[in-house]
Amino acid sequence: MNNKIRVLVCNCHNSVKIPELDLGADVVVERHDNLCNVRPQISGEEKIVIAGCSPNLLEGIYLDVNAEFVNIIEHVAMIGHPAEKAKCMIIAAIEKIKETEPIKKKIFEVKHKKALVIGGGIAGIEVAFQLSKNGVGVTLVEKNPFLGGTVAKLDRLYPEGTPYSHTLMPLINNLESCKDLERRVNTTVTEVKGRPGDYHIVLSTSPRGVTECINCGKCVDVCPVEVDDDGKKRKAIYYVPTYPDCYAIDFETCTKCGECVKVCPGKIDLNEKNKESETNVGAIVVATGLNWYDINKVEEYGYGRLEGVMKTLEFERAVASGTLHPKKVAIIYCAGSRDSNHLPYCSKICCLLGLKEAKLVKDRFPEAEVYVIAMDMRSYGTFEYLYNKLRDKGVSFIKGKPSEVFKRNGSLVVRTEDLYTNELLEIDVDSVVLSSGFVADKGTFDKLNIKLNNDFPILFENAGLGSHELPRGIFTAGAATFPSGVAETLIDARKASHSALNLLREDRIETRLPQAKIDDDQCSLCRMCIGTCPYNAISIVDDKIKINEELCMGCGICSVTCPSYASQLEGWNHRGLYQQIRALVGQGDLLAIMCRWSAYNATERAAQDKLSYAENVKIVRVPCTGAVDPSHVMLALNKGARGVLIGGCYPDACHYARGNFRAKARESILRMNLESLGMDKNRVRLEWIGKDEAKKFVEIAKEMNK
Ligand code: FES
Repeated sequence: MNNKIRVLVCNCHNSVKIPELDLGADVVVERHDNLCNVRPQISGEEKIVIAGCSPNLLEGIYLDVNAEFVNIIEHVAMIGHPAEKAKCMIIAAIEKIKETEPIKKKIFEVKHKKALVIGGGIAGIEVAFQLSKNGVGVTLVEKNPFLGGTVAKLDRLYPEGTPYSHTLMPLINNLESCKDLERRVNTTVTEVKGRPGDYHIVLSTSPRGVTECINCGKCVDVCPVEVDDDGKKRKAIYYVPTYPDCYAIDFETCTKCGECVKVCPGKIDLNEKNKESETNVGAIVVATGLNWYDINKVEEYGYGRLEGVMKTLEFERAVASGTLHPKKVAIIYCAGSRDSNHLPYCSKICCLLGLKEAKLVKDRFPEAEVYVIAMDMRSYGTFEYLYNKLRDKGVSFIKGKPSEVFKRNGSLVVRTEDLYTNELLEIDVDSVVLSSGFVADKGTFDKLNIKLNNDFPILFENAGLGSHELPRGIFTAGAATFPSGVAETLIDARKASHSALNLLREDRIETRLPQAKIDDDQCSLCRMCIGTCPYNAISIVDDKIKINEELCMGCGICSVTCPSYASQLEGWNHRGLYQQIRALVGQGDLLAIMCRWSAYNATERAAQDKLSYAENVKIVRVPCTGAVDPSHVMLALNKGARGVLIGGCYPDACHYARGNFRAKARESILRMNLESLGMDKNRVRLEWIGKDEAKKFVEIAKEMNK
């Protein structure tokens, strides 16, 4: 094999004048005119340095190549820096690539052209239908005895109050025509093993109790157990008109008295056992729907303590089933939402659910008084019409956050401020509806080893297989991703099924994401890397640290955390970056280590916006600021750099969840250390720089150069 390094220098239609480069016998320099349009012959084995325009552009063109990119257009030519600087950058890239492990192609065989869909609500049903229609075998599992999820419990859908049957029944009927579709109710996933294209799944099916049913309903007449099912009364044996067309026993409340068995003309087995089964699939779609926040925790509103205080779903079902005729209702918004003691975020759909409940009351009982108490009303888009319509119908909107709900003389009293009138109010009502937020289905995501960020799954937008893909080729649909209404859920379900189809129609998936590698001989098993990985990709197997290559997203955070340098990221290993910085930085330079997703783009933007900066600014591109090694910063300072600027994504905007916060912590320690060494701590700065913030970058560089 030829060990020479090829350096391809692009003249960019003669706009760049790089002097003759004599880089030694191991380096072959080639001149090209237009590397972003005309690709020379390159074998996958070669080490290549490509000096041309933006790596963001060239990376896409040279995806299959083991290359190091040098931006001599935006970082030199366009800002009028001397060609000598370009030469220095090329030499530094050569030094880096000499030491760098190439990013290896990863290949996953798609062995099973089948999908597992977890959740039988509208999202799961739609995903199953779309996949099945496109020839993919589907196992659709639902933990409850009937399909339909939350929608099957609702009386009506927002905004107009359309009965759920308009939406749900056609979706369920669609499944009837599907071939190779298995619907498994009362079923949960107990184990998931494998990788994209080849998952082994263990399912557990709990007993339905009713094994032969003619839908006569005699069992319900004799069942002595009454259950409050989210505001609606039912028996322990019950029926939901979705799928399957068969009664079921709720064994959590059933006393096994046997009355139903006596009258059933079909067959009821009260002693049925759980059944385990296994299946193999190529893709998994999580469609587990809405999960309400536990409103009991918002103690000041008295849920579970004060009769008449209900959740939106309970209220809607009680009104629809005729067990509740409210005359005066208060609907409290953001119950536990946007509250640092409970859910810090807005769940997006609760405002609309609250408006729907207000409309339900006004539609059914026009004379009833309805108060909506909200800090803010988020009726986005055309939902504003619903809000205005309700105002016209006499619903009172109060701006405020109620401090408590209590009982007085048999009535419920809501104590609240009204920020419109600046008054403190006590409103007597007979019903209080709490519009609360939603949380992710942690149990399912834990089983799939998916980390949650701010309670919802971390979506990795650039995995190459569709924006709905989580690490490992697992997809989410509908409210499992984030709370959403019916229309959005269905759109999302179609996107998720499309992404799953893209995976399943391939025989193999090739990816070229850099991956962390562990050198077992260096590893001291300190386990520090395990907690730092944003993707749960690191574990201990047979007393060794193991990186799961389906999960690793190539951020490099673990590599910098490892105290013994046992963890190294392909394409960005410690030694390679060390050599690059050593060759690049000279006395009086300012080293800018920039995150490829944000600050690095700002440096390019500076050239496009014709903003210049001093030629001593030398730029190094890293996958994330979380991958910036403090020893590299110290190396630059020891080489005489006047400062090191670390540029990264803004707080909460790091591409790898929290890499930038880790970088911030390291920066603080570095600055403290500099101070204790008697050095100016401001020589090291970490700054949040957005991708278009060229001006900010240039100003910081100027400041640090003073
Ligand atoms: Fe930009 Fe982490 S990806 S700082």
